[in-house]
Amino acid sequence: MATEAQQPTMMEQTKQTIAELSAKVADTLNVSETAAGEKGKDAPSRDAIYVDEKTGSDETGNGSSTAPFQTPFHALLTSFPSAEVEINRPVLVLKNDSTERNDWQPISGAAMKKAKKSLDAHWKKVKKAEQGREAAEKETKEKAEREQKKREEAAKIVLVEDSTKPRAEKVKIGQLEAHRGSRVRVFGWVHRLRVQSQMTFITLRDGTGYLQLVLSGDLIKTLDALDLVTECTIEVTGDLKEVPEGKTAPGGHELVADWWRMIGKAPTGVDAYASLFNEKSDLSVRQNLRHLDLRAETPAAIMKVRAAVLSAFRAVYSKHTVMEVTPPCIVQTSVEGGASLFKFNYYGQEAYLTQSSQLYLETCLPSLGDVFCVQESFRAENSHTRRHLAEYTHLEAELAFIDFKDLMDHIETMICEVVDMVLADPIAGKLVQELNPGFKAPARPFKRLDYKDAIAFLNEHDILFQDDDPAVPPRPHQIGDDIAEAAERKMTDMLNVPIFLMNFPKHLKSFYMKKIEGDEEFTESVDVLMPNVGEIVGGSMRISDIDELMEGYKREGIPADPYYWFTDQRKYGTSEHGGYGLGVERFLAWLTNRWTVRECQLYGRWPGHAAP
Ligand code: 4AD
Repeated sequence: MATEAQQPTMMEQTKQTIAELSAKVADTLNVSETAAGEKGKDAPSRDAIYVDEKTGSDETGNGSSTAPFQTPFHALLTSFPSAEVEINRPVLVLKNDSTERNDWQPISGAAMKKAKKSLDAHWKKVKKAEQGREAAEKETKEKAEREQKKREEAAKIVLVEDSTKPRAEKVKIGQLEAHRGSRVRVFGWVHRLRVQSQMTFITLRDGTGYLQLVLSGDLIKTLDALDLVTECTIEVTGDLKEVPEGKTAPGGHELVADWWRMIGKAPTGVDAYASLFNEKSDLSVRQNLRHLDLRAETPAAIMKVRAAVLSAFRAVYSKHTVMEVTPPCIVQTSVEGGASLFKFNYYGQEAYLTQSSQLYLETCLPSLGDVFCVQESFRAENSHTRRHLAEYTHLEAELAFIDFKDLMDHIETMICEVVDMVLADPIAGKLVQELNPGFKAPARPFKRLDYKDAIAFLNEHDILFQDDDPAVPPRPHQIGDDIAEAAERKMTDMLNVPIFLMNFPKHLKSFYMKKIEGDEEFTESVDVLMPNVGEIVGGSMRISDIDELMEGYKREGIPADPYYWFTDQRKYGTSEHGGYGLGVERFLAWLTNRWTVRECQLYGRWPGHAAP
């Protein structure tokens, strides 16, 4: 038997096979010639493979005289589909210049040589690919074996908490500073992971903060250590140490772990958190994976600022003796017009999701005094702008026995005191600066701009009015025009300060707004406009006279009956009063410098988007 060294190489084998094949083909051709009768002229041979370089096809041909192949190489390849078989059929080629369909000639020696050369190259390529595949399979198998062995070794290492060490107190990451120098126990999600040969560094996240962990020795040799990826949940004990000078870590300390355990594993490979997306991924990808995107630093930071903003509003309202109430979401009256109402069947009656809790707040004034609410409002308008949502958090307030100036002063106070409080918060204030570097609390008093002066400003700066019909050419603004979002944004960005835009025309505003005495086509209404966002607050003084209110219903074509409870407020001891609504997401977009309000909701709701 030949030893391995004596075996012919693959290349030599192929050459040998081809040489033998050539000889056999030559023999066969002679035989076939006889079988086919006089050279090519008679009936086609059934054994032969036919090639017509002019009209044959390698794709659709089958090598018969009626469906010949196009190339001799293909004839050989298709008819002898491996390097090892014998070529024992003649190859007949239709003469190129022949006019006769049956003028089949045996393939010339040179053409056969060329075809065989191509065949040889082809088989070599096939063999090489096969060898590559085999090598890869071998490597995969070996890797799996190595991995298995590693896991078996790792399984032998079991970490046991050392009971002789001082007790490790369970502490949230955000509260760790007071525990520096002692042994602590923390729980959280693996936010970042860096594995080195002797050490593993983890950034752990528990919602209250981030903590650097250092694992070494047996701690990085266990089975769980092999399965550790980002988003796994773990429990860790260890000594909390201040980071050495010149090094940085979140909170200024790191936990040198002495024990840990896996609580919940997270996927690896294509399903791994890091493979799904990152913070720079397309916004729509992140929006569809919002439940996971919330774990990333920027979305979490915005939500933390959001929480701080809401609690600051509550604190400031409380300071100014404005009481929180919780009006319903299911209503049967509109506040801001029927066009943007989400309607539904409520036990056989028509009902809506609330657009604004304003009317309910007004009913609370006689019993509770000044009131506010934080309630979801719903708008069915199909607006795809960066500041419109289908559901948003609406912060609304109503104040009794005030005038228009009191109302604006109050709004200014609320915004400024809330901003001051958020900036002074050690966590939220820092996050605002990270999200919106250089942000400063707005200067008081806010600029007060009459609607008519705003129209003049737009015209002075060539900011044109564009009709809803795009076919109508743009024109200068006129008194009475609605100031569209784009124009309003341009003006606000040019002025680059918070603006009270006041006194809008009556016909542009809702039925409940109080008219300006002596200028009755205009109302005591106000929008607060902020740079980069535009309108964040809409408010007004309310009609206090019952006849004027009835006239308002009529003007807007609103049936008075369903509003009987609202009308009663004017019957049973009326009062001058006013209020406003602030879009929490717009306020946040301004404070944290976000491109769109969609980033400022926990789970976004805008036209066409209601999941997750
Ligand atoms: O100007 P709006 O429609 O006023 C009202 O609803 C009044 N009834 C509020 C009141 O006086 N109590 O809305 C008030 C604020 C706007 O300034 C804006 O910040 C926000 O609510 N807002 C929206 N935010 C996101 N998406 C939408 N579709 C919004 N519509 C209004």
